[in-house]
Amino acid sequence: MEQYKRTANCGSLRKTDAGKTVILNGWVNRKRDHGGIGFINLRDRYGITQTVVSEDASSELIALASQLHNEYCIAVEGMVRARPDSMINPEMATGEIEVVINNLVILNKCDVLPFQIEDKTNANEDLRLSYRYLDLRSAGMQKRIRLRHEVTFAVREWMNDNGFFEIETPTFIRSTPEGARDYLVPSRLYPGKFYALPQSPQLYKQLLMVSGFDRYFQIARCYRDEDARGDRQPEFTQIDIEMSYVSRDDVLAMTEAFMSYVFKKTLAINLPAQFKRLTFEEAMEKYGTDKPDLRFDIPLLDFSSYALSGDFQAFKDALASGGAVKALVVPSVSFGNNSVYSRKQIDELETHAKIYRAKGLAWMKVTGTESEPVLEGGVSKFFTEHHKAIIAGLNAKPGDLILITADPKKKIANVALGAVRSKLGKDLNLCKQGVFEFVWIVDFPLFEYNEEEQRWEAAHHMFSSPQEQYLETMESDPGPVKGDLYDLVLNGYELASGSIRIHDPELQKRVFSIVGISKEEAETRFGFLTNAFKYGAPPHGGIAPGLDRLVMLMAGETSIKEVIAFPKNSFAVSPMDNCPGEVEQKQMNELHLSIIKP
Ligand code: AMO
Ligand code: AMP
Repeated sequence: MEQYKRTANCGSLRKTDAGKTVILNGWVNRKRDHGGIGFINLRDRYGITQTVVSEDASSELIALASQLHNEYCIAVEGMVRARPDSMINPEMATGEIEVVINNLVILNKCDVLPFQIEDKTNANEDLRLSYRYLDLRSAGMQKRIRLRHEVTFAVREWMNDNGFFEIETPTFIRSTPEGARDYLVPSRLYPGKFYALPQSPQLYKQLLMVSGFDRYFQIARCYRDEDARGDRQPEFTQIDIEMSYVSRDDVLAMTEAFMSYVFKKTLAINLPAQFKRLTFEEAMEKYGTDKPDLRFDIPLLDFSSYALSGDFQAFKDALASGGAVKALVVPSVSFGNNSVYSRKQIDELETHAKIYRAKGLAWMKVTGTESEPVLEGGVSKFFTEHHKAIIAGLNAKPGDLILITADPKKKIANVALGAVRSKLGKDLNLCKQGVFEFVWIVDFPLFEYNEEEQRWEAAHHMFSSPQEQYLETMESDPGPVKGDLYDLVLNGYELASGSIRIHDPELQKRVFSIVGISKEEAETRFGFLTNAFKYGAPPHGGIAPGLDRLVMLMAGETSIKEVIAFPKNSFAVSPMDNCPGEVEQKQMNELHLSIIKP
C-alpha cells in the first residue's frame, strides 16, 4: 500500500491545485466512456473527484481501466487539471478540476452489488440491513452518521464546558424498572441468576448524586425488550443527565441551553432562548396528545355549548355522561390546490378516529360568503338555528371543514380528534421540513391506573417526586397527584423525559407501596437505593433526551434506523449477522440453561 497511499482525498482538490501530481484512493462511483476517453468518478468519505483515462494513455492503463466496475476500490496517481469552462460542474465541490490518470492500481474488486449504492434506494430494508456496510457508503447515510458524530461531540463539549462529568455506569445490573421488559444475561458463576441490561442508568445516576458528583452526564446505551417502531429500537442511546440541588426550572433551562448549543453548532440554527410550555392537561385538551406537533396550529376546540343547544343526540349523550365534544376547524388554505375535502377523505379520517376508539367523526363544511357564511352537509342539519353562532364562535371561514368527536369519555374525544389532527398534518403536508418546534409538557400525573391489572402504576418511573401539595392525599386519592415530571417534545415526538426525584427514603417507600411493591420486594430490588438515601442524599433531578430521536429529527427522518450505523429490523433482528442466534450446547451447559420449546 505504501506507494499508493493517498496524498489528497476525493473532496479536496480545487483549481488552485492544477498542475500537482496526486494520489487518490477510493471507490469507483461511476464510470463512463466518451469517444475513447474514460471518466471514472472516484468517491470517498470526503467527496467525489472525476478522474480521466485520456485517449493517449498507455494500452496497459486503458486495459486495466476497462476492468473496473462500480465499487472497485482503487488508487490512482495523476495530474490535477483545470477543466475547460464549459466542463465545470458547479454541483460538485471538485467540479472545477479533474485528475488525469497516469497510474492505476486495483486495491480490491467488488462482487455484483446486491443493490445500487444511492440515497433513497428502493432496496427493501432487510436487504439494506444485510449489507449495511454497503448501505452506509451512500451519501445520505454518510451525512447522517456524520451529523450523529457532530451532535454527540457538541453534547460532550457543552457538558464539559458547563461542569458535567461523563461517568460510565454498568451495563450488567439488577433490573431497573422503566416499564419495558429487561434483556437478561445469565450468570455462569451463579446458576439461576441473571444480570439485566439497563433500560436506562436511572438508579446509578441518582447514586452518583448521593456520591457528590453534582453534575453528571453519559452518552448511555439502553436496552429495552419492547416492540420496535419507527422511533424505537431494542438498543438505543440516551444523553443521560442528572444534577443536584435543582428545581424543575433549572433542569429545563439547562436543557434549553444545551439543545440551543447543539443546534447552533451542528445545523447553524438558532433556537428560542426558552421553549414553549404546556401542562399535560392543556396538551390533552388542546391537541389530544402529550406529544403535540406544533409546526402547525389547528387546536382542538370545545364544542359543548353548541352541542347542548343543537339536536344531535350523540353529542348530547356524550355530555350527559360527563364526556366531551371537541371540534377541529381545518382552514381551507391547508387543502392546497384541492380546495375541497372529499367525502372519501373524510371517511378515511373517520376510520382513523375509530382506531382511537371514537364512535364516529362528525363533520360540517362552511360555505356561503365572507359576510354570509353558512354550514352545510354532515351534521349541520342538527344545528340549523345556530350556524352563525358556531361559525363565529369557532372563528371559521368559508371553505373550512369542521370535524367533531363526542364521547362519554373525555379522553377518547380528545385523543381521537388529536389523532385526526396529526393525520391531517401529515396528509396535508402542514409540517415544514427544517422547522423545529420544541415544547415542554409539564405537570404530568404521577400515577396511571392499569385497568387490566386493577392497580396504580408510575406514569414515568417510580423515582419521580410528587408535587408537594399532593403529599397528604397521595395514598387516599392517587389519580389527581401531579409529579415533578417533564417531557420535551420536538415536532410531535417525545424527545426527552425527566423529573425531580424523590430523595427522602420514607417518601420513596410510600410511592413503592402505592404502585403495589411490597416492603420485601422493595427491599430486595431497591434496598440499595433507599439505603443510600439515608446518608444525606441531596435533592436532585435530571432528564434523558434520546440521542437517536434527536439526530433523526435533526436529519429530517422518520425512522431512527436512518441514524444508527447497525440497527435491528422491526423484528429486533440484525439480518447482517443473523442475531439473535442459537448458541452451542456447551455454552448452554456452562450457563446452566435449557430451552423450553414454545
Ligand atoms: P424514558 O424512558 O422516557 O426516561 O426515556 C428517555 C428518552 O429515551 C428515548 N427512548 C428511546 N429511543 C429509542 N428507542 C427506544 N426504545 C427508546 N425508549 C426511550 C426517548 C425518551 O424520551 N431514566 C429516564 C430518564 C430520566 O428520568 O432522567 C428514562 O429513561 O427519546
Ligand atoms: P349516525 O347518526 O350514527 O349515522 O352518525 C351520523 C354522523 O355522526 C356520522 O358521520 C358519524 O360518524 C357521526 N357520529 C356519530 N356518533 C358520533 C360521535 N360520538 N362523535 C362524533 N361523531 C359521531
